[in-house]
Amino acid sequence: MRFIFRTNSIPSLMRNFLVLAIAIIFLASCQPKSPKVITPQIVPQPQSIDYNLKKHFNLNSRPILLSESDDAKEVMLFLHDYFKSVGWSSELHESGNAQIHFKENSGLAKEAYSLTVNHEGVTIKASTSKGFFYGTQSLIQMLPTDKHIAVLPYMTINDAPRFEWRGLHLDVGRHFFPVDFVKKYIDLMAFYKFNTFHWHLTEDQGWRIEIKKYPKLTEIGSQRKETIVEKNFNPYVGDGKPYGGFYTQGEIRDVVAYAAKRQVTIVPEIEMPGHSLAALAAYPELGCAPGPYEVGTRWGVYDDIYCPSEKTFEFLEDVLTEVIDLFPGEYIHIGGDEAPKTAWEKSKLAQQVIKREGLKDEFELQSYFIKRMEKFLVSKGKKLIGWDEILEGGLAPDATVMSWRGVAGGIEAAESGHDVVMSPNADMYFDHYQADPATQPLAIGGFTTLESVYHYEPIPEALDEKHHKHVLGAQANVWTEYMKTSDYVEYMAYPRALALSETVWTKPENKDWNAFQSRMGHQYRLLGARNVNYFDAAKDTLAQNNE
Ligand code: ACM
Repeated sequence: MRFIFRTNSIPSLMRNFLVLAIAIIFLASCQPKSPKVITPQIVPQPQSIDYNLKKHFNLNSRPILLSESDDAKEVMLFLHDYFKSVGWSSELHESGNAQIHFKENSGLAKEAYSLTVNHEGVTIKASTSKGFFYGTQSLIQMLPTDKHIAVLPYMTINDAPRFEWRGLHLDVGRHFFPVDFVKKYIDLMAFYKFNTFHWHLTEDQGWRIEIKKYPKLTEIGSQRKETIVEKNFNPYVGDGKPYGGFYTQGEIRDVVAYAAKRQVTIVPEIEMPGHSLAALAAYPELGCAPGPYEVGTRWGVYDDIYCPSEKTFEFLEDVLTEVIDLFPGEYIHIGGDEAPKTAWEKSKLAQQVIKREGLKDEFELQSYFIKRMEKFLVSKGKKLIGWDEILEGGLAPDATVMSWRGVAGGIEAAESGHDVVMSPNADMYFDHYQADPATQPLAIGGFTTLESVYHYEPIPEALDEKHHKHVLGAQANVWTEYMKTSDYVEYMAYPRALALSETVWTKPENKDWNAFQSRMGHQYRLLGARNVNYFDAAKDTLAQNNE
């Protein structure tokens, strides 16, 4: 049965009223909609955030920026450039009225900030450029990606990080990624308040950093004749295509400066004594056997490592001297992982060093090796950090340990008074599958979901409270054996990096998995606006729930 609206059956007064009501509704729907007040959906979740959606401040696309703090000047320029990049145009003023104010608050901790929105606009306070930068990232995360106005609710944010080491790593040895991508990677890190980029620069399959004193490192060591196809180890199948790449020192300086502007410190990794086949291919005299060696073409661990000769130590000190000159941060990563001892067992020279130094075995020889390198780094004002194998045979006196084979190494090091960075492979390896492998591109294995990263707790339960201060923070590692393209790197790192950002920034009492998930819709839009090829974990969860 059809419903027929018979106007002639309605009394005329009522009819007039109805016509008027319909006209009003129609006209109202034609008005431009007032933009919606934006609920803050910041990742990592700030330690404290209060907002009132009933009151708002309209930040239009031509904001005036005003700094009353020298520490904020560079950050203000960063925000100015950011606005330009998204089609807004800000003005920088020295005095007078403004919509975005930067003000000194010397009482705040090094990386802390406050952000308020009220009738005067946005005010970011901090005591350092780091704090100003993080307040600015929180503001940027609240700006819509598709409108030229931000309707910000009145709010007060008080925020500071939980950990001082908030790290992401990138292996450029297995596959090489160009400078522009490395910058994008750092930019995204900064957006989520990471502060440490661990740049894994040397590998069996490629040496990626120009060293002026040893040009063959890049002439020979940065190139491999081919790459294994998928997981065809046995029988081995190579793709027959030469592959290579490296960063010049000029490019490295450029990336370091780019990172510094974003409050990101770069920790360069120069692997020793293992994962050094590319260097041996360039300078065979550094190995225990006469060679020749060939840059690796398959993944895994190679038996050929640096021989502990004076020639090797001289070489490594020369290399590190150039590396130190390029990277102003306090840490140099020397690797130390997965160094098989077979070459040293067979080597007359290595055995002589064991005897000469009164060492028990090859593990103590590795410890001797690392201790020598530490002495050198300390003499240059740097700190040594290495993977947890550097515990074997005795830890160098001031070394910091990156615990990757679970948490035991981290606990042992912290208990003996050393600083540690937690990076256990079960939770912190972003080369692992993040969803059902049947639905995913080829990965190394493992299974580390967005949720498991979110719930990872960097302070091991077994660690006594008095040693907690030694846990500097946590880091996720992006090993690239199976990531040939930058798109795939992004797919593996995002959105898991967002979960990690909250793990290393937000105090446990302010973390909430459900609330995090509810913020992800907005975050996916932000990632999309930055052309990040993220994995949509929400869709995957939906698919699983519908199975
Ligand atoms: C490592 O994954 N070999 C540190």
